[in-house]
Amino acid sequence: MKRHNAAEVPVPVSYGGERDEKTGSKVDKMGGGAARRWRSGGCCSRLWLVLVVFATVTMLLRHRYDSGLGHGAAAVVRIEPVHRKVKPADRGGARPSFSDSGSAKPVTVDHKSATTDSSTGTESDGGGEPSSASSSLPAAAHPFSRALAAAGDKGDRCGGRYVYVQELPPRFNTDMVKNCVALFPWKDMCKFTANGGFGPPMSAGGGVFQETGWYNSDKYTVDIIFHERMRRYECLTGDPSLAAAVYVPFFAGLEVWRHLWGFNATARDAMALEVVDIITSRPEWRAMGGRDHFFTAGLITWDFRRLADGDAGWGSKLFSLPAIKNMTALVVEASPWHLNDAAIPFPTAFHPASDEAVFVWQDKVRRLERPWLFSFAGAARPGSAKSIRSELITQCRASSACSLMECRDGPSNKCGSAASYMRLFQSSTFCLQPQGDSYTRKSAFDAMLAGCIPVFFHPGTAYVQYTWHLPRNHADYSVYISEDDVRRNASIEERLRRISPAAVERMRETVISLIPAVVYAQPSSRLDTMKDAFDVAVDAIVDKVTRLRRDIVDGRGEEEKLEMYSWKYPLLREGQKVEDPHEWDSLFAFA
Ligand SMILES: *[C@@H]1O[C@H](CO)[C@@H](O)[C@H](O)[C@H]1NC(C)=O
Ligand SMILES: *[C@@H]1O[C@H](CO)[C@@H](O)[C@H](O)[C@H]1NC(C)=O
Ligand SMILES: *[C@@H]1O[C@H](CO)[C@@H](O)[C@H](O)[C@H]1NC(C)=O
Repeated sequence: MKRHNAAEVPVPVSYGGERDEKTGSKVDKMGGGAARRWRSGGCCSRLWLVLVVFATVTMLLRHRYDSGLGHGAAAVVRIEPVHRKVKPADRGGARPSFSDSGSAKPVTVDHKSATTDSSTGTESDGGGEPSSASSSLPAAAHPFSRALAAAGDKGDRCGGRYVYVQELPPRFNTDMVKNCVALFPWKDMCKFTANGGFGPPMSAGGGVFQETGWYNSDKYTVDIIFHERMRRYECLTGDPSLAAAVYVPFFAGLEVWRHLWGFNATARDAMALEVVDIITSRPEWRAMGGRDHFFTAGLITWDFRRLADGDAGWGSKLFSLPAIKNMTALVVEASPWHLNDAAIPFPTAFHPASDEAVFVWQDKVRRLERPWLFSFAGAARPGSAKSIRSELITQCRASSACSLMECRDGPSNKCGSAASYMRLFQSSTFCLQPQGDSYTRKSAFDAMLAGCIPVFFHPGTAYVQYTWHLPRNHADYSVYISEDDVRRNASIEERLRRISPAAVERMRETVISLIPAVVYAQPSSRLDTMKDAFDVAVDAIVDKVTRLRRDIVDGRGEEEKLEMYSWKYPLLREGQKVEDPHEWDSLFAFA
């Protein structure tokens, strides 16, 4: 196992004043914000060690209580593109995109000119013969000229959407699934990694679900689900020069997950360093320094942002590695203060096989009777002074319009059963979604799937996270009541009763219309007329890379963004600047 050389990797060694190369802002502040998630209000760097221990305990509790698990991936980095490992044979026009041992045959699209000169790499080949649509671009001026030209090729249904899959040995992906018993120390995860990450099929649950398409899905299996979809993506290409984006099939989430507990920092980072070593030495990396590369890390971002260098720090360092900073990491909870991760929905129980299945479900939840005005499924956080959960529980108990499902450890835990919490959400108009130990909750997606209008108390729970998948105007599909208002004893019931029936109807209809975008459909039969969470994510990545490439071609260069404001960029309206005041500034301010 390779230990990275500290001199090679400019990441903060201490929780101190390391500067971020790009923004010049202090990394410790960002780290502090992140660490705050685990520290319940700790603020001082001096307390770091103590807090790290606390953080670890908190994480343990979170992972145990939610009966989900974190997974992890390790990360690491080599900084420079390394040439020594390049094997020309690795590239070639027509390599089927997936080399792992999967059963499905990858769909390979025919390319007009799939031959690239493997000795020169993408940097100089520019795609061989310029495609006819590229006449407006200087031929081969950029390694991605051909890919950009394909975007303008109306005759190519995949034009501008091709994805090239980087080749990795199966130990970086499918082997982890085969060896699922090693994923988590306290629970056998094999049942949840089965069925392409959907987990075991569920019966109709006494009418709560449909007969087919419902699974007992774990919330941290996005790595597998995404991979299963990607291997059947309709626009795979074996020709990197044609690709709109490069998918790296590294199961970063599962990797870190199996090393979160009881492993030292070296073990947690080992595979991350390896994967970076491999991908940065490939010719595809050089085209854009990895800015067109993406991968999944199906846990929350804090599992990959270890601050302390010692073994006491939580998680891996994956996301701080310079190479990874250039890539897009797909997580289920992103950092408000970093640009290299993007949040995609937690998996829910519904994995439809057809548009029809979605329509039938939407019809069902639209017509349901909802006896409860609002409901809450969850547990208090007695250890956290900042948590508003106990206030919500108190209010819910006191209201005849609220139904409470208290989650507790042990066999009597109703929250452990998808049928019981989905039944609750299906009989409620509004579903309360406070923060948990971190900002986000899988429950927000369960609620929307049930046609229940989510009530959020912190913008970090959804509004600044799932900006690809949810409408920008949060009032269209949700209610926002600030945590401060709850602490001031604002009545939830009264706030919700103030919303007119017509407005409720409109919001619910929007929620129902969002169902396809927040579920992961069956890989074998994707949806025809609607985009699921996977489609939305791939489109967004392709857009992001294409925009960046156009900026480079037009000489604008990459837009300089300040990491500390990463939460704010997607919220900006025309003409607004990121420094302009925002009502949520204080919520995302550094301590
Ligand atoms: C980390 O743990 C591994 C076993 O998981 C062990 O082989 C290695 O020596 C440890 N490294 C350090 C620096 O403690
Ligand atoms: C990250 O991208 C920048 C800009 O393309 C590039 O200069 C840098 O070398 C890349 N970093 C790595 C580790 O490849
Ligand atoms: C909060 O409001 C409820 C109902 O309005 C009231 O009964 C209760 O005493 C209030 N609690 C506090 C701490 O103000």
